[in-house]
This record gives sequence, C-alpha cells and structure tokens, in this order.
Amino acid sequence: MPLLAIETTCDETAAAVITRGRSVLASVVASQDALHARWRGVVPEVASRAHVERIVPVIDEAMSRAGIARRDLEAVAVAVRPGLVGSLLVGLAAAKGIAAALSVPLVGYDHVAAHLYACRLARPEPIRDPCVGLVASGGHTSLFLVRSPLDLERLGGTIDDAAGEAFDKAASLLGLGYPGGPWIERAAAGGDPRAHRLPRPLAGDRDRLDFSFSGLKTALRYLVRPPGAPADTPPPTGRRLADLAASFQQAAVDSIVAKIDLALARTGCRTLLVGGGVTANALLRATLEALAHDRGVAVAIPPRELCTDNAAMGAIAWERIERGDDDGLDLDVRPGTDRRRT
Ligand code: KG4
Ligand code: ZN
Repeated sequence: MPLLAIETTCDETAAAVITRGRSVLASVVASQDALHARWRGVVPEVASRAHVERIVPVIDEAMSRAGIARRDLEAVAVAVRPGLVGSLLVGLAAAKGIAAALSVPLVGYDHVAAHLYACRLARPEPIRDPCVGLVASGGHTSLFLVRSPLDLERLGGTIDDAAGEAFDKAASLLGLGYPGGPWIERAAAGGDPRAHRLPRPLAGDRDRLDFSFSGLKTALRYLVRPPGAPADTPPPTGRRLADLAASFQQAAVDSIVAKIDLALARTGCRTLLVGGGVTANALLRATLEALAHDRGVAVAIPPRELCTDNAAMGAIAWERIERGDDDGLDLDVRPGTDRRRT
C-alpha cells in the first residue's frame, strides 16, 4: 500500500502518493510564486497562510489522481526540517491529522536529503553509494558525502547567500521576475558569457569546499548601476541584458562546479547526485554532465520537476519506514539546518 508524502517547507504546497516500490502514483505541487513575486522573495507569513488554504485541496488532488482512498494508505510522511517554521507546521498538522485518523505510522523526513533522494527515483539502475551530493536551492547550497540515503555528512556549504538566492537577487537587479533562476536562464539565451568579467569567489581555493555568492551579486550590481549613477537608472535591456545575464549565469555555474570537482577528488566517490531548484538550470546540467564524463564518474540529475520543491522526493520516508521507524504524534518540526545525519 502507498504512503502519502507532504511538503510545505517553504513556498510550495505539495503532496505525493508513492508505492513501496518507489513508484510515484501522483505528485501535486501548488506554487506560491505569484504571491511572492511582488516582494521578489518569500514572505514567511504569506507562505504559511497560503499553505493553510491549499494543503487540503492539494492532498485531495494527489489522492484522487493516484486513485487511492485514504484508508488504503500505509503511512504518512512529512518534511519536518529545514524550512520556515510557520510553513513546516502546516504540513505537520495535516500529516498528524491523517495519520491519527487512519492509525498508520507517521514519519518525518529531511527536505535536503530528500532533494538528493529524487536522484534515486525513476532510474533504471540503483545508485551505488557513497556519492558526492550537491543541493543548490533558494535556501541551501551544500555539499555532502552521501554514505546512504539517510546518512549524509556535510562537507561544506555557502558562507553567505545560497545559489538560488543569488539567481533571485541577480534577476531583481536586472529588472527581471521572481523566482529569478528561470528568468536569468531565458535572458541569458544568446548572450555572451564572456562579455563581463565577474568574480567566482572561493572557486580557486582548493582548501575549502565552501561557496560564496554575495561578491558575485555585488559585482553585478555595480555593473548594472555603477557607483554614483542615479537610483532611477533603468534596468538593462536587449543585448546588454543578455550579456549580463549570461555572464552572471556562467560565473554562478563555474563556482558550483569547481567545488563539486574538488569534492569528487577529495572523497574519491565515483557517483555524483544533485538536487534543488538551481539544478534545473540547463547550463549547470550540461556542465555537470561534461564534468562527470571528463572525470569518469556517474552523475544522477533528477528531471526538472523533481529538482524544484515537490513531495515525490518524500519517497525517502520509505527508507525510514522499512527500518521500522514511526515518529508518532510527538513529531515536531526543526526549522534549523543543524544536522549531520537524517
Ligand atoms: O528547491 P527550490 O524549489 O526551493 C528551495 O528549497 O529553496 O529552489 C528554488 C530556487 C530559487 O532560488 C530559483 O531561482 C532557483 O531555485 N531556480 C533556478 C532555476 N529554476 C529554479 N536557478 C537557476 N536556474 C533555473 N532554471
Ligand atoms: Zn528545496
């Protein structure tokens, strides 16, 4: 019998129905992008209220698309960390209600580990652990040594902005929409990635597996509006916009890929897993494929719809259920990211 997975860590309300064999029978994602666009970032209070309105219809839609009645669920899973506390609590309350009504196990899972688990779905061959894992999203940019789906050791991460946050801020500087990644990607098409020299902070530091994106963002800001330029300087358009977007995108991708290469060399892992919204980026995906080919390692990149937030990656909860875990109704959220093991 399948499990119901619920995901409300940030600004997507999502539910999925997944069999023990890891087949995703239905995956529904209600995006809040339109609600947050005018602020060019997620407003936590707006996000929690939208989750409250959407969670029940999203779950009902997932159940109906899967053709499953609630009494046919074997367990309920919910992402309990990391994330926005108000958002997490909405998903948890819904999950507890359903698990209590059906008297089935309730299992919490880690959203970041779940992003990497998406690599294991819909794959003909099983992934051979250990792997290097990169999660690059709006809230996280971290590298892991993945010993197994539930055993992740953090090797490094961003010391300032997350990669997705950098894309979002860059898009805002360029007068583009939110979330920024897809806008930058579209604006960069046809642009020259070498038109502007932008920094790749920390990329050349072979001693650290950390990332930094704030200097890149600031450098772009000064190209768009040099010091002393009037505050109402209009955003770039046409060729200049394309060149700026392409140069930014190239610098962000180079920064990410440099550390992945270093992590592969340091750990000796023969497999790379990636996940998170930024890994939907076509240039990053192509560059990772090329790197993996050059280094003779396997790379698993989820389909785009499994890179951004979704509940299908909640399939990771089966790993816990199969070892007999049941968190019960005492399960609580852990908004912070302080975790080594899941
Ligand atoms: O994983 P995700 O959906 O949510 C979080 O857990 O944060 O990631 C959202 C982030 C946003 O910052 C968005 O700009 C970025 O992923 N993103 C992209 C692309 N699509 C989404 N960044 C670069 N290129 C893309 N195509
Ligand atoms: Zn995410």
